[in-house]
Amino acid sequence: SPKLRTLARGLSPAYLRFGGTKTDFLVFDPKKEPSFEERSYWQSQLNHDICKSGFIPSDVEKRLQLEWPSQEQFLLREQYYKRFKNTTYSRSSVDILYTFANCSGLDLIFGLNALLRTADLQWNSSNAQLLLNYCSSKRYNISWELGNEPNSFQKKAGIFIDGLQLGEDFVKLHKLLGTSAFKNAKLYGPDVGQPRGKTVKMLSNFLETGGEVIDSVTWHHYYLNGRTATKEDFLNPDVLDTFILPVQKIFQVVEMTRPHKKVWLGETSSAYGGGAPLLSDTFAAGFMWLDKLGLSARMGIEVVMRQVFFGAGDYHLVDENFEPLPDYWLSLLFKKLVGTIVLKASVKGEARSKLRVYLHCTNINHPRYKEGDLTLYALNLHNVTKHLQLPHYLFDKEVDRYLVKPSGPDGLFSQSVQLNDKTLRMVDDQTLPALTEKPLSPGSPLSLPAFSYGFFVIRNARVAACF
Ligand SMILES: *[C@@H]1O[C@H](CO)[C@@H](O)[C@H](O)[C@H]1NC(C)=O
Ligand SMILES: *[C@@H]1O[C@H](CO)[C@@H](O)[C@H](O)[C@H]1NC(C)=O
Ligand SMILES: *[C@@H]1O[C@H](CO)[C@@H](O)[C@H](O)[C@H]1NC(C)=O
Ligand SMILES: *[C@@H]1O[C@H](CO)[C@@H](O)[C@H](O)[C@H]1NC(C)=O
Repeated sequence: SPKLRTLARGLSPAYLRFGGTKTDFLVFDPKKEPSFEERSYWQSQLNHDICKSGFIPSDVEKRLQLEWPSQEQFLLREQYYKRFKNTTYSRSSVDILYTFANCSGLDLIFGLNALLRTADLQWNSSNAQLLLNYCSSKRYNISWELGNEPNSFQKKAGIFIDGLQLGEDFVKLHKLLGTSAFKNAKLYGPDVGQPRGKTVKMLSNFLETGGEVIDSVTWHHYYLNGRTATKEDFLNPDVLDTFILPVQKIFQVVEMTRPHKKVWLGETSSAYGGGAPLLSDTFAAGFMWLDKLGLSARMGIEVVMRQVFFGAGDYHLVDENFEPLPDYWLSLLFKKLVGTIVLKASVKGEARSKLRVYLHCTNINHPRYKEGDLTLYALNLHNVTKHLQLPHYLFDKEVDRYLVKPSGPDGLFSQSVQLNDKTLRMVDDQTLPALTEKPLSPGSPLSLPAFSYGFFVIRNARVAACF
């Protein structure tokens, strides 16, 4: 879909992680023929530059759209009952995935199957070798993972792999990469779930044997179970704060075993099991998303990967009709306005919990802003408007406001949003709307209506840390 590519391109630079539970049930079959739909796709590309995607024939598109709801149900059922079917994928599928990522300006991370095992429970790398051979013949630039949430392999597949073994498997993969065109490719792992119980032990054992060969430590986080989560949960500052403890725990384990190793949130969203229906895909989900981005940055997590850009369930950024949802627009604003240098901010005279603020240097790739500018982002979980006042030394600065509110009659459950009172919509399939600021006069309070969030760019702040 050209539209999906346009939406993906908006978030570039970013990673596209192809991974998840299904990763460990996928087998590469280089002899498998392309499907009917894949053949139509390649035919539609024949007379095009590969990145100027043509449209697939409309009857094929219709067929794919008709098939999706039952495929989605199938995937969600597999997840719910934790019974997964092995599936093979073809060279053609790899090509389509790679082309999508590369033409959208996203760096592909591919999760390899860690459940292919030899009789003595070591990782059997022969299928990975076939895939590496194919990808290097195509000169694809890909980073790698091995296995998804290995702490629950027992539940999902009846195989128990301990952290020490998994670390050795990563060393083996690292050796394979070293003898291929992927000598300089990055390797991330172990993509464990939350650091509770035996998972902590697994992570620390893994880091002991495999920590040397990975470029970042990845772990996963969800606040809630999608089947039981409520609206109150989504707006509850105590729920938002539950993220802090696991982050501290992960850093503690990493500092003890592999000091200074980078930590990434390799997969994360509001609620697991596909998300919470009528919540994870609405304006209300933005509080969890923005607060997670803020806390992650503040606590030193370098990369956050959102479950999912597009796929089964309710926590997607783009829905099944390729319509961007509120968290897509929030992600887009975040990418455009927020830089990578993190500063400290707090609200005086207010329990932090319901009025939450985060401060970074502004992203100076934005044409309107320059070095030294600041981006403050804030969430108001109070049921009344709150006014923030900048400290004295920033009092005379011009501020650009980017206020996000729900659009239409559904309020917090809306699937569309307003930026500065104007509903955000794609201009056409190839064009994202301008994200237009509202300049505030120097000294005016930064107002946030009840249950809203927004970004405030403080111009000409000339903050030394941002140069
Ligand atoms: C690894 O898997 C391949 C493909 O299934 C199989 O042919 C091979 O015998 C396996 N190797 C070991 C050591 O189990
Ligand atoms: C990736 O995309 C760029 C253009 O965006 C293109 O020049 C390059 O050849 C592509 N790489 C591969 C391996 O397809
Ligand atoms: C591969 O992609 C990475 C970004 O993930 C980039 O830094 C690197 O330069 C690329 N390598 C090649 C050979 O294009
Ligand atoms: C706002 O919340 C408070 C409790 O925090 C409650 O007492 C009050 O009735 C609420 N006001 C509105 C307008 O909902």
